Amino acid sequence: MHAIGIDIGGTKIAGALVDEEGDILREARVPTPPTAQLIEDAVVAMVTDLAMGEAIEGVGVAAAGFIDAAQSTVYYAPNISWRNEPFQARLAARLHLPIVIDNDANAAGWAEFRFGAGRLVSDMVMLTIGTGVGGAIVTEDRLFRGGFGAGAELGHMRLVPDGHPCGCGQHGCLEQYGSGRALLRFANELADAGGIGQALADRRALTGELTGNDVADLIIAGDGGSLAALRQLGHGLGQGCASLGAILDPQLFVIGGGVAQAGELLLEPIRNAYLEHLPARGYHPEPEFRIAELVNNAGVVGAADLARVAARRTADSA
Ligand code: BGC
Ligand code: NA
Ligand code: ZN
Repeated sequence: MHAIGIDIGGTKIAGALVDEEGDILREARVPTPPTAQLIEDAVVAMVTDLAMGEAIEGVGVAAAGFIDAAQSTVYYAPNISWRNEPFQARLAARLHLPIVIDNDANAAGWAEFRFGAGRLVSDMVMLTIGTGVGGAIVTEDRLFRGGFGAGAELGHMRLVPDGHPCGCGQHGCLEQYGSGRALLRFANELADAGGIGQALADRRALTGELTGNDVADLIIAGDGGSLAALRQLGHGLGQGCASLGAILDPQLFVIGGGVAQAGELLLEPIRNAYLEHLPARGYHPEPEFRIAELVNNAGVVGAADLARVAARRTADSA
């Protein structure tokens, strides 16, 4: 049977009708609205459209926030206005379908493990590079959730003591040095400084504000300043991966999210910083670093699959 996956990020909501092989049959996308109520309305509308005329096994909603162990409440979202949001109950009351909530990066990591870059490994770590930095950990073939459900918030591990303030209330989190927003901050700093940042400064002068697309265009054009900003981002992420490697010893790091479309240009500085900061370097096997195979679809495909897993668990225990 088909399942529906919804992926709610800081910038956009994506949804898809997905079959058992993880293939997308129908999809939808809207910008993320500003309030919890409007997000709920948008998800209800999207699920209703995607489900039209189909028998649906379950709906998986991947949300960019800290999720509880019952997979029903968003405790907190650094980049969205959710605070203790009983999201599962609100959606279930309106949709009358089995619904499960999961963290967006967990869903993406699960999809890469099942159907993408992580198919052949037992232990992998995924980082999603978008508005925030999301994390997923698969150890011994299982998705790690932690004791209270909200584990694997890898974007909020501390990278810089007393560093840049973060939406989570702390300072110096990896998210502030490795996300799409961090890339824009680095690009603006380079634009302010002139020199290699001149093309960024010129682009900014045209519209008053640099966007992710501006920086992406300049990266593709080979602009030195934009590539420097991307290297700075990779440096932070690679350092984070070195610490994660020491803890989790994965065979593979998967890098996903919109910014991962930079491909090798991002992977190379990540690998370099990883090796530079790796404890016991040279004396143990080193993991691979790969870009997510499902690119921007990982969240919806993984959410749909997790919904299916949950629906079958419920059926088995009934
Ligand atoms: C949130 C995570 C989310 C990530 C990517 C972070 O700010 O804390 O829950 O997975 O952003 O969206
Ligand atoms: Na996560
Ligand atoms: Zn944080």
